[in-house]
Order: sequence, then structure tokens, then C-alpha cells
Amino acid sequence: MIENQYLHIPPLLLVISEQKFDFDIYLFQDNNYILYATPKNFTEEHLERLIANGIGNIYIDNKDKLTYEAFVQRNLPVILDSQNISLYEKAEILYDHSLVVVENFLNQINKDYPNSESYDKLVHIVDNIYTLFDNNQGAVQSIRNLIATNYKEYIHCINTSLYSISLLMHHHREQSDSQILRKSTVRQIGVGALLHDIGKSKIRQSILEKPGVLTPKEFEEVKKHPIHGVEMCQYMDLEQSVAQCVLFHHEKLDGSGYPTGTRNIPRHVQVITVADMFDAITCERPYRKHKVTTFDALKILSKEVERGRLDQELVASFIRMISQDAIRL
Ligand SMILES: [Fe+2]
Ligand SMILES: [Fe+2]
Repeated sequence: MIENQYLHIPPLLLVISEQKFDFDIYLFQDNNYILYATPKNFTEEHLERLIANGIGNIYIDNKDKLTYEAFVQRNLPVILDSQNISLYEKAEILYDHSLVVVENFLNQINKDYPNSESYDKLVHIVDNIYTLFDNNQGAVQSIRNLIATNYKEYIHCINTSLYSISLLMHHHREQSDSQILRKSTVRQIGVGALLHDIGKSKIRQSILEKPGVLTPKEFEEVKKHPIHGVEMCQYMDLEQSVAQCVLFHHEKLDGSGYPTGTRNIPRHVQVITVADMFDAITCERPYRKHKVTTFDALKILSKEVERGRLDQELVASFIRMISQDAIRL
């Protein structure tokens, strides 16, 4: 939550008091932001007073945002492992941090093709999402409460990755003959989902943001984004399975998808397709008069199964994961 020049941060200090932080801390009191401590003068006493006063309203100056994000990145494993931070707060910290990283990543690719360093940052996000989901049964619901539905490219990429990783893990748990879910598989799907729409940066904004229905010519242009995406990833040295996520995420099992119309879609890509569709349906767009409810979005996915376009088992798993009820298609 940004208020003027100050940014509200989750109350991390309890956990990271042993760690060095390198930004000023402000409190909001009597309608003012008051400098509470600097990295140099912060003492145990500051911490005790914060705890005594409920530690809720801590802010940083927006100018320290990058420093703060680097701090969160360094400390994410500690934060996610902490007994002192609630699941909701962990999810919030991770979600907010992921949004910043992916927004920076997408801004950067307008200047430069992404490289292996960019890839490592995305892997870091995915690994932490996996840790959160793996250690906490209720993490999906916590994340669901946080997920932003206002459509922005970077929000959609994060949401698709969260839904993809959680669907993969949930579906895997539901399989009776389950083998161990390898972390490398989670990484491939998580990073593939973060990158899936990267090629949209090559499509004209006027088309992407058009409030009405696209003309056939405009739609032909949009349909090129998976191919643009794979081209853009050439310097990231992606594994083939990750590149497949970028290239095939709009393909459908009945051959009605694009860009190739193949019916032979790798299973891991199908996970992303379900997640991608759900987020795309439920997000708010200017041309949608009414918000699509979760229930209606799940009904649309079910219809896609009936038409033979999406995999029945995966969609059923997704519905159970989202609704936490044993709904059968
Ligand atoms: Fe796409
Ligand atoms: Fe998408």
C-alpha cells in the first residue's frame, strides 16, 4: 500500500532483528510519518518498544524501495521459515516481492533481451513460492485472498505462476501412484508461467489495451506473442520444457489453439494453460461490465473440458483446489 511517498511494509522486524537492514523506518502517528530508526541507531530498545506497541504500522521512504526489496530477497528463506510470522503475512511478503521483481524484469526487457541473470531471479521467486506451498497446507487460500485482479502484465504473470505451481502440487498430491515431485519440475512450470506472455511486449499497446473486440487482423497479431516470446528468451539458455510453456500455452487439445494448432501438448504446459485461462477470466478488464466470479470462471473451464479443449483431470483438480470441495465435472 503506497501512501504518498511512504510505503507500508509488513512487520518484519521481529524476525529480522538479528539481520542488518539498510533503510530508515518510519511510524505513522498523529497523521504524520515520523522517522523512528535508522540502520545505525536502531537498538534493542527500539525493537522492544515496537513490540510493546503492536508493531503494525511500519513504513519506509519510497526512495529506499529498491534497498528494501533487496533486503527482502536476501531474507526470504528466513522469513518463510519463521515461526513468528503468520502464513498470511508470509504470503503477503512473498506476493508483494514477486510483483516488484517481475515488474522490473518486464520493464527491463523493453531495453534488453533477458539473460541468465534474469533467469536466476525468476528461479529465486519460484523456489520461494514452492517453499511456501510445500510447508503450508493453507497457503493457496492465503494467496487467493491477496491476488490482485486488476490486469497488468506483471500481475498476470505472477498470478499464473502461483496458480500453476499450486495446481501442479495439488494434482500431484491427488495422484495415488505419486512419485516424488521434483523441484526441477516445479521450477520449469513456475518459470515457464512467469515467462509465458513475455512476447506480448512486442505487440502494439493499442491492441493489447483495446477496450472492444479485436478485428481479425489485430487478433492475428496477438496470436504471434508465443513466437515472439520464444525468440526473446534466446539469451536465457532456457531448457526446452520452459520454452515449450512460452510457445504452446495457447494450444488446445482439440487443435483449435495457436500458434501451431497442435493437439500434442506437453502435460506441464497444460497446467499453465488452465492457470492462465483462470487468471485471464477472473481479472478485471475495462471492457468487462461485470466482474466474473470464481464460480463462473470455473464453469467456463468446465465448458472447455466438455469441448475437448482442456484436460478433464487437471481442470477437476484445479476446481477442487480452488473450491476445496469435491466437485466433480
Ligand atoms: Fe498468452
Ligand atoms: Fe497469459
